[in-house]
Order: sequence, then structure tokens, then C-alpha cells
Amino acid sequence: MAILTKHEILERSPTLLLIASFTVVTVGGIVEIAPLFYLENTIEKVEGVRPYSPLELTGRDIYIREGCYTCHSQMIRPMRDEVERYGHYSLAAESMYDHPFQWGSKRTGPDVARVGGRYSDQWHVDHLMDPQSVVPESIMPKYAFLARSRIDGEYVQDLMETHRFVGVPYTDEMIAAARADFTVQADPDADWDALVERYPGAVVSNFDGEPGITEMDALVAYLQMLGTLVDFSTFTPDASR
Ligand code: HEC
Repeated sequence: MAILTKHEILERSPTLLLIASFTVVTVGGIVEIAPLFYLENTIEKVEGVRPYSPLELTGRDIYIREGCYTCHSQMIRPMRDEVERYGHYSLAAESMYDHPFQWGSKRTGPDVARVGGRYSDQWHVDHLMDPQSVVPESIMPKYAFLARSRIDGEYVQDLMETHRFVGVPYTDEMIAAARADFTVQADPDADWDALVERYPGAVVSNFDGEPGITEMDALVAYLQMLGTLVDFSTFTPDASR
């Protein structure tokens, strides 16, 4: 019991106890946190994850501007009820090009991390124009004005350069082609081979079915790619590293 008696010395002196607890917590903290800064697999590289296309990035800005994140999260937790409802739990790599990330914890509406491809473009347009027209009990606000707001990608190059500044690997070629790619993604009749080569898996569509590009097109382009980049039929978590 000698050790217990010695421990009494600590317990009887508040100052000593404080110093000792601080030391223990510091060592514990360093052991836990420090490796994250040099371990390569803190964000595991995952095949398929790529920067957003110009139109998707614009849509993402609209998503943030409209505060969609105040009701929707974009992170599927690795719990059974979540995975059964929304699909494979979210990987850190899937939001590695998100500045700022959209994980969130407020779910007035469902998580949208994997909403891409779940509904048709038309469904999204109808739903955003008037949510109650497709989901009668919905409390989501209407966003019909997005369909009237024309955009031409005037600032999309600047937007991409800003994202490159904070670490998104946009190449010079991507930035040079930004405005062309922006237009082409909303026009299935255009020559979009180069776009899809630069941004594999990009959905090319006249999202809102109307001529001209609107904020609605951009937002739906963004929604339709959410969570679709990683092929989970072949994905296996890399436990070897
Ligand atoms: C006031 C809260 C609220 C806001 C703000 C909001 N939503 Fe929703 N959203 C909901 C609710 C509730 C639902 C579920 C009912 C429904 O489908 O309309 C929903 C459903 C959705 C769905 C269907 C998801 C699924 O898996 O069925 C999408 C997509 C969506 N919202 C996108 C958006 C976008 C984009 C914005 C911003 C422009 C937005 N929401 C803003 C509350 C909100």
C-alpha cells in the first residue's frame, strides 16, 4: 500500500495535484493529437474524390448563401440507423475540398450528404420551387426565385482561384477553362468531353429544363453530385497503414 500512501501527498496538496493533473493531461493530449499532424492517413486518400466543377462550386455557394445548412447536415454518422437511411457513412476525404465544410448537426430536414442521383433533376426543381407540391407535409421554404436569377459565371474563375489559395488543387487548365466548363455543364447538346475529363462523374444536364443558366441549374448540379464521387461497391477502408 506504499503507493497509496505516496499518492496521499498529492491529494493533500492542491498545488501539487494541479501540477500533476496538468502534466498527465498534457502528455495524454500530445499522444492523441500530435500524430494527426504527421500521419498520412488522417485524411485517407480515396479514389474518385475531386474538386468541384465550376457549376457545382457555384451551386455550393448558393447552398451556403441560402443557409440550407441551417436545416440540412452533410455527414452520415457511422451508426446503423444512419447508414440504413442515408447510405455509406461519410468519409473525411469526401469533404476534403469543402471550404468551409458543411457537416453540421442541425437536421430539421434530412442529411443530404448522399442525395446525389437519388431524385431526378425535375424532382429537385419542383421541390425547390415549391417543396409542398412534392412532399405535402414539408416545412421547407420555397426557393422559386432561384429559377429567375440568371448567372453567367462571371466570377467563377475568381472563386476557383480563391479555393486554390486555400489548398484545392485546381490546375491552371481548369481555371482557364472555368467559364466554358460552367456553361457546358448545363447544356447536354454541347461538347462536354473535356469537362467530364477534368471533373469525372460531373452530371451534364439542362437541370431546370429552361434555356439559359440560372442559380437553380447551379444548385441542382451541386445537389446531384453530392456523395456520388466514391464508388462504394469497390471501396474498402484502408486499414493497412
Ligand atoms: C427550414 C428548414 C429547411 C431549409 C432552410 C431547407 N430545407 Fe431542405 N428540407 C427540409 C425538410 C423538413 C425536408 C424534408 C421534407 C421535404 O422533402 O421537403 C427537406 C428536404 C430536402 C431535400 C430532399 C432530401 C431527401 O433526401 O429527401 C433536399 C434535396 C433539400 N431539402 C434541399 C435543400 C436546399 C438545397 C436548401 C437551400 C436552398 C434547403 N433544402 C433548405 C427543411 C429545410
